[in-house]
Amino acid sequence: MTHDTSLALAELRSQVSTSLDRAQALPPWVYTDPQYFDLEQDKVFGAAWICAGRADALAHTGDFLATTVAGEPVIIVRTDDGELNALSNVCRHRMSTLLQGRGNVRRIVCPYHAWTYDLDGSLRAAPAMDANATFCADAIRLPAIRCELWEGWIFLTLDRDAPPPSETFADLATSIQDYAMGGYVETFREEMIWEGNWKLVAENFMESYHLPVCHRGTVGGSVALRTLEESMLRDGYNYHCLVRDADNPLTTAHPNNTRLQGDARRTTWVIALYPSLMITLSPGYFWYLCFAPEGPSRVRLLFGGGMAPEFASDPDSQDILEQARALTAAVLAEDRLCVERVYQGLQSRLAEPGPLSHLESGNHHFAQWVVNRVSGSQG
Ligand code: FES
Ligand SMILES: [Fe+2]
Repeated sequence: MTHDTSLALAELRSQVSTSLDRAQALPPWVYTDPQYFDLEQDKVFGAAWICAGRADALAHTGDFLATTVAGEPVIIVRTDDGELNALSNVCRHRMSTLLQGRGNVRRIVCPYHAWTYDLDGSLRAAPAMDANATFCADAIRLPAIRCELWEGWIFLTLDRDAPPPSETFADLATSIQDYAMGGYVETFREEMIWEGNWKLVAENFMESYHLPVCHRGTVGGSVALRTLEESMLRDGYNYHCLVRDADNPLTTAHPNNTRLQGDARRTTWVIALYPSLMITLSPGYFWYLCFAPEGPSRVRLLFGGGMAPEFASDPDSQDILEQARALTAAVLAEDRLCVERVYQGLQSRLAEPGPLSHLESGNHHFAQWVVNRVSGSQG
């Protein structure tokens, strides 16, 4: 931030606190400024629930993934008793990180001097430590990180007091209960790095205003702006629905799906759980992005998706499954281009934020949520 921080934040707060009919895009510096980024890491990612993907990706004892929350290295591992455990990924000896990526382990062995931890984080063995009188294996364990499951998603937080996702998203869970999202089966997943600020990814995903143009090569042709609904804005999330053509097998409920009735059988939900889980939920399939910023201009994304259980268990649906994967990858490639172009554009000397459409109400709501947290107010 070029001038006094609290003054800049106060100005920003007043800019985003307008009503929707006067709303503007955020100023460029909130996407590029390293100091502002540090505040976001601390007050947004360090305090919110951050998604680390689907729980069914870690199905077996010892399956793990290494991730970060607000830059903090964390391991999530399936323990012997079948639970998912989140632990600090930093060794209690000389503080090496422990595991990388994904995999399966029987125990967590530090790659530096082989201190060895059980899957619950307790230290099991440490070579050649008998001579140090302060060493007490029983007193050493990897610190636990709060981890909760909600509708099949793994959520982590560094905040001891944050209300659980089941509370924050309770109304949403009721609204989408007939989709039974918790039972959707992940069939593909990949990680990628995009050049841009994390908020651009979130903002792109939570409005369908860009569908007819940015996605004209894929799904855009079937979307008319006049049919789009304004987003529903809730504390901590927003969503809107798209009613799709009934003849599209990808976005229509499987004949064996008796939970969904009427238009719900062809309604897609576009859900943004702040700050960093974006879900497209259709009766037949779903896809998602969850992401972790690695700096103002770099974001690590987990892109995954899969099928409703009726499709996943239907041998005749394998080609639909392949189509779903190919289509979502093509849509995401279009999104990436749009997001990276915005990141280029907002660094122009002549860049200036413009007014938002009513179809970007979710963006305005999200901006208020982020800025309120960064400036220390939850209101
Ligand atoms: S830093 Fe982990 S065993 Fe030494
Ligand atoms: Fe998009």
